Amino acid sequence: MATNRTFTMIKPDAVQENHIGGILHMMEEGGFRIVELQKINLTAERAGQFYAVHAERPFYNDLVKYMSSGPIVAAVLEKDNAVADFRTLIGATNPAQAAEGTIRKKYAKSIEANAVHGSDSDENAQIEADFFFGSK
Ligand code: TYD
Repeated sequence: MATNRTFTMIKPDAVQENHIGGILHMMEEGGFRIVELQKINLTAERAGQFYAVHAERPFYNDLVKYMSSGPIVAAVLEKDNAVADFRTLIGATNPAQAAEGTIRKKYAKSIEANAVHGSDSDENAQIEADFFFGSK
C-alpha cells in the first residue's frame, strides 16, 4: 500500500541560484505538506552513501562531487500517494524530457544538476528520510 510520505532534496545548483523558495512553493502548491526541513552540507562521503545504489554507474563520481559541492535542502513531504505524485511533480530525470509545469522543467539545468531529488519507492522514501532525520 502506498504511504503518504516522500523524501526530497533541493540540489546544490538550485540552492546556489536562490530557488529554495520557488521550489518549496511549487511543492506546497502541488498539495504537499512540509513535515521536516533542513539545509545542510553533504560531505563527499555522505553523498556517496546516499547514492550508493549508483556506485557502479559511470556518472557516480561526478554526481558525488556535485552533491557535495554546496548546501542542499532536505525535506520530508506528506500527501496522499506521495511518492508517485511527487515523481509526477518533479518530472523526468533529464530536464530535456521533463513535462511542462514540472519542477525540473522550470529549474533543472542538466541531467546531473536537475534541481531536485524525489524518492522512487515507499521503501526508499523511509530509508532516505531516516538518512537525514533519523527514525521517528
Ligand atoms: P536516477 O535515480 O536514475 O534519477 P532520479 O533522480 O530521477 O530518480 O539518478 C539519480 C541521479 O543521478 C539523477 O537525479 C542525476 C544523476 N544522473 C546523472 O548525473 N547522469 C545520468 O545519466 C543519470 C541517469 C543520473
